Parts: sequence; C-alpha cells; structure tokens
Amino acid sequence: MPQDAAMPHRTHLTASWDRLTALADRPGAQDIRALFAADPDRATRFSAALDDLTIDFSKTSIDDEALAALLGHTRAAALNLFRDRLFEGHTVNATERRAAMHMALRNGAQGGFWADLPSGRENASQLAATELLRMQAFVRQVHDGEVCGVGGARFTHVINIGIGGSDLGPLMATEALTLARGPVLDTRFVSNVDATSLAVATRGLDPAKTLILVASKTFTTQETMTNAHAARAWIADALGEAAVASHFAALSTNARAVSAFGISPERVFGFRDWVGGRFSLWSPVGLSIALAAGWEKFQAMLEGAAAMDAHFRATPFAANLPVLLALVGIWNVNAMGSRTHCVLAYDDRLRRFPAFLQQLEMESNGKSVGLNGRPVQTATCPVLFGEPGTNAQHSFMQLVHQGTQAIPVDFILAATPEHDRPDAHRILAAHAFAQSEALLRGRSLAEVQSEMREAGASEADIAEIAPHRVFSGNRPSVTILQSQLDAFSLGRLIALYEHKVAVQGWLWGVNSFDQWGVELGKALANGILPDLMPGAAGGVHDASTNALIARFRALRGEA
Ligand code: F6P
Repeated sequence: MPQDAAMPHRTHLTASWDRLTALADRPGAQDIRALFAADPDRATRFSAALDDLTIDFSKTSIDDEALAALLGHTRAAALNLFRDRLFEGHTVNATERRAAMHMALRNGAQGGFWADLPSGRENASQLAATELLRMQAFVRQVHDGEVCGVGGARFTHVINIGIGGSDLGPLMATEALTLARGPVLDTRFVSNVDATSLAVATRGLDPAKTLILVASKTFTTQETMTNAHAARAWIADALGEAAVASHFAALSTNARAVSAFGISPERVFGFRDWVGGRFSLWSPVGLSIALAAGWEKFQAMLEGAAAMDAHFRATPFAANLPVLLALVGIWNVNAMGSRTHCVLAYDDRLRRFPAFLQQLEMESNGKSVGLNGRPVQTATCPVLFGEPGTNAQHSFMQLVHQGTQAIPVDFILAATPEHDRPDAHRILAAHAFAQSEALLRGRSLAEVQSEMREAGASEADIAEIAPHRVFSGNRPSVTILQSQLDAFSLGRLIALYEHKVAVQGWLWGVNSFDQWGVELGKALANGILPDLMPGAAGGVHDASTNALIARFRALRGEA
C-alpha cells in the first residue's frame, strides 16, 4: 500500500511551511544573542533531557514563536500517525514495500514488535531475539576458544568485510567501545573494493587465527563479494579449501547466496529486509562489535537504543529529544536556509561518528522526490560533514566561524572520560564549549580594534588588519552532553539520530528508508568494467567518459 494512502494529504502543509519562512523573515530573526539578552531562562527553556542526556538548542535562532510553529508543523504533518505506523511495523518504506523495524532488534523477545510483509505480518521481536541468542552463543564460543581455526588455534583476529551500513555502523561502534581500553579480539574492517583495504587488514595476520565475517544484507554487493572472494582465497591458499567453513561467518538476509558462497547454515546469522542497511548495526551485522567489545557491551548498546525508542514513542513532541533535534534541523534548513550541517564529537572514540551519520542522514533524506511521487517543494537533507574536536578546529572551523554561510553545528561531549587524565578531558571540554560560545558571541570590529590598541598595534595596522579578525557571531549550534560515553549511552545516541532522521524525512515528505539514488552508478560501473579489459573495443558512453577510459588504458599500456 503506498504510504500516502494511509496518511493525511500533505497539500495543506504549504501554510505551515510559509509560517516558518515568515518567522525567519522577521527583522532580527537571526539575532541569537538578542534572544539570550531578552530571556535569562533561555538556556533552560530551550534544552531538553532524557536522564543524563541533555540537548541544548538555545544557541539557535529558535524562539517561542518559532518553536510553536515547528510543533504546529508536526501536527499539520500528522507526525504522530507516522510514528505510530513506524512502531506498529507498517510499510513506511513504501517504495521498497517494507517496514522499517530496526527497533525490534533492541527491545527483546517481549518487545511486541511486528512487521508488515507482502503476505501478512511477522513477529519481528521473536525473530530478532532468536537470532540474538545464536549470536550470543557464537560470541561466547569464539571468546572461549570453543569455536576456533581449522588447526585448533584460537581466533585472535576478526576481519569484517562489508560496505555502507554493513561497515560504517559496526566500525563506528567498535571504535567507540574499544578505543580507550582495547578490544577483546582485534577486529579490522574492510570496505573498499580498492584491494589495498584487504591487503592492509590482513597484513601481519596469521590466517590460522583469523575469523572472517562477510557482512552484506543482500550478499550481492560487488565490493563486498569481491573482497569476500579474495579473503576466501587468502584462507584457502594458506589452510586449504576445507578451512573456509571454519574461518568464515556470514551476516545476511540472503541465505541462498551465502550457501552458494560455501558458508554453512550454522555460521549464517540472518535478519529480515525490514532492517535497512544503515540501521543494521543492531542486527547480526553488529557481530563484529560484540566480538570486539564483548557481549555485555553489545547488549548494553541495544538497551540504550531501546531506552531512546521508548522515549521517542511515548514523549510529547515538545519534550521529545529526536523530534526537537529534527525540528532544529528543519528550522535551520527550511527557515534559515542552511544547506550544510557539521557534527563535531569532542571524543576520539566517536571519530567515525560523522562518517556513520553521513550515510544515515544523507542516504536516508538526500531525496528530491516526495512520497507522493512528485518533486518536493522544500529543501531536504543538508550536506553533513564532521571530524573529532579539537582536530576540526585546526582544519575547517575557520570556515564555520568566518565563512560566508552559517553552518549549524552539533557539538557532542561526555562529561566523564574513560581514561584517567581528567585534566586533559577538561581541556577538551573547554574547547567544545568555547567553540559554541565563539559561534554565538562573535567578535565585533570595535572589540578587535580596542584589543589591538591595548596590545600596542599602530593605527595603520588596526585599520588594515582588524576587519579580518571580526567574527559575525549569531551562528547556530546544538550541544549534546551526557555523563559518559559507555555502551548504553552510545546506543541511545545512535538511536537519537536514527529517529531524528525518520522525523525529518516525514516532515520533508520523503521516504527515509529507500536509497534508489545509489543504483545508477552501480549499473553504469557494470557497463564500464568490460570496456576496461585488455583488448576491449571501447565503450559507447558520453565523450568525456570515453576519453577517460581511453586515457586510463593508455596510461596502463593497454590501449
Ligand atoms: O550503498 C547502497 C547500499 O545498499 C547501502 O544502503 C547498504 O548499507 C550498502 O549498500 C551495503 O549493502 P549490503 O549490506 O547489501 O552489502
């Protein structure tokens, strides 16, 4: 059933969008400093919390009227109905005819989540819990050495082969949970079909002690299958063909393709297509996380996500963290005209979090056709980028502070570190808070001039240099602060962004759960590959592509 058939028509939303732009057009609407000056309680009133997790969105240009209009927009768009349909497992992914039921993976057997299928409905919670138990048993057996290499050696290393959601989530979470104290099992990630990736991952490893996970929802992704076959040859060459059964496991929905690859059913951990690739780290795709960080941490990560699910599902929108975070983004994009969004985690453990979010946000909401099949009438997903703080301060933050566009920033920080150097952590936190303060406050020409004068600069130097040292200020940011980054709070943080993305997709009127935009390049690559073979006649492409192919072959001496 097309999603819109079950949902209210959206044409009446025009007035709601117009209301937001009208508010943004008010004189002084971008003056965040004035909002603070007018309201001593602003920091508290424009913050929301779930236990120790606080989102402070007071350093944005959202005021009471804007917030009321944004919440009014959620009502006009029937966001509550969308949320119900999501949690009830209906076919919210209309263009792929699927539910988006990743919440079932983290709420246990009694979660009560069901998912629509073309043929009926299935008990998603039950299926997920059954597979979770199999994963748990396998992780214990590997850690205890009961499951071992073909020669009886314990596995000391794991290589996860996967790409996109079968890589970014597991890699990000594995780093987050193991960087500070080290992993239970050394776990490496191979994603790119660039053969360097697998060569680096296997460098120095003993095949006899290496377990290889092939993570692919479809088990057809060219990059992953190419790397999986190369890894299989690496094992078979060293240990014999029969060793493949002992040294591989598969994480996939495609049992038939896994079996054709030669991985036995007891080494296959399955899930259903109601788990989208970029939402799959909670599924068996997260096996690498559990092997690297330990089962207890994987379980705690699921529980953290479940806590956010419960909050998102039950909390009124005015206090609902994913909804508020989504509305801040909607305001920045659709009222203030932002086209970019920066995420700075002041936490090295989250160094791959922006990369994970790039897929989560841009693959989900980087769309220009609405659920109704027509072009959308509003801007949708901004370009997302980020780096760990403070590193970012020494690269692109120049542009965020003084560039020609205001780039909204999410600052993410834990109050307590996992290491034992509290002074270093205070320095880190000081920089995080200073960056958001600087973006808000700026520095006026008069301030710069007086500082330069006090420092003894000549009037000529002041006249020449002072304008370059001015910061406009009034640049928006959100700060997400929690007590610590442990497995539970990591799961909660990821789920916060997952639900934010779903809310934004719904408000923009796009399907956040498909990714048709990645297909054309895949198809064309298949068409170009034969043209790159020695002796190929040359393809029929556009003139630029033909010339590049010819040049590539000439440079390789294969013209
Ligand atoms: O890039 C497109 C995509 O389908 C992603 O959505 C997905 O996470 C990735 O490819 C990998 O897919 P699979 O897990 O099926 O190999």
